[in-house]
Amino acid sequence: MKPVIFITRKLPEIAMERIAQRFEIIENPYDEAVPREELISGVKECDILLCMLSEKIDREVIDANPNLKGIVNYAVGFNNIDIAYATQKSIPVTNTPDVLTDATADVAWALLFACARRVVEADRFTREGKFHGWSPLLFLGADITGKTLGIVGTGRIGTAMAKRAVGFDMNIIYCSNSPNFLLERDYNAKFCPLDLLLEMSDFVSLHVPLTAQTNHLIGIKEFVKMKNSAILINTARGPVVDERALYHALEDGEIAAAGLDVYEDEPDIYPGLEKLDNVVLLPHVGSATIDTRNNMGLMCAENAIAIIEGFIPPQVVNPDYRKHV
Ligand code: GLV
Ligand code: GLV
Repeated sequence: MKPVIFITRKLPEIAMERIAQRFEIIENPYDEAVPREELISGVKECDILLCMLSEKIDREVIDANPNLKGIVNYAVGFNNIDIAYATQKSIPVTNTPDVLTDATADVAWALLFACARRVVEADRFTREGKFHGWSPLLFLGADITGKTLGIVGTGRIGTAMAKRAVGFDMNIIYCSNSPNFLLERDYNAKFCPLDLLLEMSDFVSLHVPLTAQTNHLIGIKEFVKMKNSAILINTARGPVVDERALYHALEDGEIAAAGLDVYEDEPDIYPGLEKLDNVVLLPHVGSATIDTRNNMGLMCAENAIAIIEGFIPPQVVNPDYRKHV
């Protein structure tokens, strides 16, 4: 009998095929978020749970099946999972690093460009038939070349952000838990405490994971420190930014614009944010390219297979799970 995997949302075909070679698949039949009760009943019946970042995998879910062998997250971020509890229960948890680094950095840049040059606002204007001819003052935006980019968090995605900034002759400053010598050597980036980074940056791009320490890292006090001309980009996790404070900062002109791919309470968006012209809103599509999603799916398949064969899965995020066996 094949082991059973519960896949909470339909994945790209190539991944489903690979998984089907080794597993019996229980699938959420609807292409929408799996209701909590179905999540729990699926977990009861499976050996491996393959879940999405939008699902809260807490004690209740983990305890639903004392024989659960692994949790495979279809995302690089894993703040949706109670890692400490999974570790305590000797359950390996895996994520999908590397394969989505470039795609996510590209979306951060898409937002940066869109905000700086008011692309979405100008598109709306043109579609509405308001373009009546070239004008010297129409949709003036901000320069990118030669400006200062502040990168908060220099893991893989923050580093890919810096790499792209070199092509625009940007002055790159960064903050992270410790100096990142590769970033300094390869991209001439300068380490800078967060307060100073906020004061100096024309663009601030967030690339930290969501943890207790990064929750509301950017709030009222931080917006006050930023330039009035500054643009904030968030492709990390919504709660890193106090969304209410962001709304007021945008409305009051404390900062110039923001580009968001993630929200504090997804899929809800802070009321009124959608009415502002100086914000660009994406529906959490950082990794949404065909190739990237295929590769994330294949990576999940390989991790699930490794777990079921008794190996340490290659993308394990809680290697300590073995100490509790
Ligand atoms: C997307 O947000 C991810 O963590 O993969
Ligand atoms: C994401 O995995 C990152 O390291 O930035």
